[in-house]
Amino acid sequence: MGNKKNPWLSKQKSDLYYKKSKAEHHRARSYYKLKEIDAKYHILSINGRFPKKIIDLGAAPGAWLEYIKDQYISRFETPFSNKFKVVGVDLTSIRPFNEISNITTVRLDVFKKECEDLLKQSAPWDVILSDLAPKTAGDFRDVAIQEAMVQKVLYFSRYLKIGGNLIVKVFQSENTNIIFQEWAPHFHLFKRMKPAASRSKSRELYLIGKGYKGK
Ligand SMILES: C[S@@+](CC[C@H](N)C(=O)[O-])C[C@H]1O[C@@H](n2cnc3c(N)ncnc32)[C@H](O)[C@@H]1O
Repeated sequence: MGNKKNPWLSKQKSDLYYKKSKAEHHRARSYYKLKEIDAKYHILSINGRFPKKIIDLGAAPGAWLEYIKDQYISRFETPFSNKFKVVGVDLTSIRPFNEISNITTVRLDVFKKECEDLLKQSAPWDVILSDLAPKTAGDFRDVAIQEAMVQKVLYFSRYLKIGGNLIVKVFQSENTNIIFQEWAPHFHLFKRMKPAASRSKSRELYLIGKGYKGK
């Protein structure tokens, strides 16, 4: 039965990946988006090794961080070594990963100087992830904000290690090809992907950069 008062909630609840994430106790359905991208492009692999430093921008409620944690545990079957550092950034607070002190979260606006300072201080990063999406409610302003987010994240790629990997969510528009052509030369492999876990009606897709070559 649908939820007449809140059609969005009703749609959400009937969604296969929503149900799956509830059944498997993940923080959000986005868990499966990163899982699919990683299965295809091995984002959590730098020269065959698990990345030591990962930053996730727009990380709340923390499903991508959870996927990273699960991958780490499945590969090493040990607690996180202190050689590894994973940072989740969001405007909203993220329920902490108490059991793993190497996964830290911070409330920051990616457009504020403090966010670039954070990236700069711990550079170079092996992997930069962004699932950033505007908080506002679906009108033309969202497109402009989302494009500014994409540009910001691509600008942050200067804090990647040479050979590092990047994922950034984009909302497809006439500018997507321009962004693609501008940034593809900076990576050995630059692709776009719409995971099955992404709603088919949504304009969301992900740009995936592997093997950063430098500015
Ligand atoms: C689709 S959600 C991310 C889901 C996340 N990947 C996960 O798996 O749990 C997008 C996030 O972007 C965050 N966000 C939006 N604008 C932001 C900004 N200016 N700075 C930091 N985070 C922002 C939102 O608060 C929201 O949590």
